[in-house]
Amino acid sequence: MDQLYKSFLGITPGQKVIDVGCGTGDFTRYVARLSDGRSKILGVDSNPKSIKAGIADTERVGLSQVVSFKLGDAYKIPIDDDYADLTCCRSLLMHLDDPLKAVREMARITKPGGHVVAVEQGKMGIYYDPNDKRFSRLSDQVWEAQLRGIRKLEGKEFRIGEKLPGIFQEAGLVDMKAEILNNVYLASDPRRSLNDVKEELRFYLTYFKERMEKDRKYVVAGGLSNAKVSMYNSGYVSKIEGLLADDQKLRQDPTISADALYIVSGMKKA
Ligand SMILES: C[S@@+](CC[C@H](N)C(=O)[O-])C[C@H]1O[C@@H](n2cnc3c(N)ncnc32)[C@H](O)[C@@H]1O
Repeated sequence: MDQLYKSFLGITPGQKVIDVGCGTGDFTRYVARLSDGRSKILGVDSNPKSIKAGIADTERVGLSQVVSFKLGDAYKIPIDDDYADLTCCRSLLMHLDDPLKAVREMARITKPGGHVVAVEQGKMGIYYDPNDKRFSRLSDQVWEAQLRGIRKLEGKEFRIGEKLPGIFQEAGLVDMKAEILNNVYLASDPRRSLNDVKEELRFYLTYFKERMEKDRKYVVAGGLSNAKVSMYNSGYVSKIEGLLADDQKLRQDPTISADALYIVSGMKKA
């Protein structure tokens, strides 16, 4: 995976790199680790708390010589024209109501011949339980309604991956490349330890419980009834709790789930 990122990001020694919407800097530091010690990586985010946390985390892991942070908006990045060899973002464009404007800004601060790279989730959201096809269908309906609802209520393309090449083209970028990284989850896969599987499932369940009532408005705005959303929410929670309570059942569960992360790269015309 490092090799894929390295080639897509076009990492070479001594580059100036900007990570837009860097949050607390996980991806910024990942890019720094892929680069050599002579590169300079700058994370930009509009949330001052994330910037503060990013600086502290970066000091803690000894990368402050290479990685720094700046407060700034993706629609008006506080960097000069033609500055960066590489301008990247991960899971930023999905949160913006005008991703094209942000990509144009990313292109503006990139040198001619330099690269703009976005890493964003795509539409694929697979959940299939061969022992409960009805619930699997309901899961598809909830997922699609949720994406429609977010688009309708907030004007955001929450799974923007497939749209990236079109957006890049509209922003004037050329020589586009694209790859998908799939994330597949199968609890019965013997390559993963029982503890890992359970830990991951607990994480999904906690996240789901935190989000389910907040997400209801999107799913309903996307066309599904409240009753169906309640049926889905209670069905998901009881299924996962049931698996966590029975190791043998968990290890034999044939449910598969998967999603897709797109990496798209474009070049600013030289
Ligand atoms: C899901 S987080 C991703 C963080 C990081 N890129 C990562 O992959 O770990 C999205 C980030 O985008 C930032 N963000 C949202 N809108 C922004 C804007 N208009 N300008 C700059 N950052 C923004 C948020 O503050 C948040 O830190």
